[in-house]
Amino acid sequence: MLEQPIAVASRWLVATSLSRVLQDVDWLVPAIQTLHIVAVAVLFSSSLLLTIGVLGRHARELPLARTAARFLPGLYWGLPVLLVSGALMITAEPERALPNPAFQLKMLLVLLASAATIVLARRVRLLPDEHRAGAAARIAALLALALWLAALVAGRFIAYTLIR
Ligand code: HEM
Repeated sequence: MLEQPIAVASRWLVATSLSRVLQDVDWLVPAIQTLHIVAVAVLFSSSLLLTIGVLGRHARELPLARTAARFLPGLYWGLPVLLVSGALMITAEPERALPNPAFQLKMLLVLLASAATIVLARRVRLLPDEHRAGAAARIAALLALALWLAALVAGRFIAYTLIR
């Protein structure tokens, strides 16, 4: 069902002048991939430290809202950088990512992880002076962390997944 629109989108993208520049300038794609990996490290370590804080295993002396204010920016900055660097990698080689089941699964996981992170941020914002998170915030934090980890693994498998 999706094959046709994906094939049309790939043919259109690969013919753009931006795609040609990304293909012709040898160092561009490796530089963008490096930026993508650095952004993954920032996003994932922020999610991990935020989860440890919400579970009360770190900075217990701080109100939860302060812990969130310290680590949420890593997610808020990391995700747009991943989106732009990812979009450029797709533009350079659309046929490598768009029809790839690992890539499609990853995009679904990124959406779910973003939703869980928004739920967590909202829960913590409701508890400005609390030092201990309720069950809902703990579950949202662990779920978001697990989904970001799953997206990371799916991202790595893009290069090793056969496109039928
Ligand atoms: C937000 C939108 C994102 C887009 C559009 C995107 C797109 C891509 C693309 C096209 C690749 C290259 C795949 C290849 O050709 O091998 C890639 C690689 C990768 N992505 Fe993403 N990505 C996004 C977010 C993320 C997130 C949130 C994570 C992890 C939490 C992530 C982790 C990875 C990893 C680990 C790789 C493999 C890097 C490598 O080995 O060079 N990406 N991504």
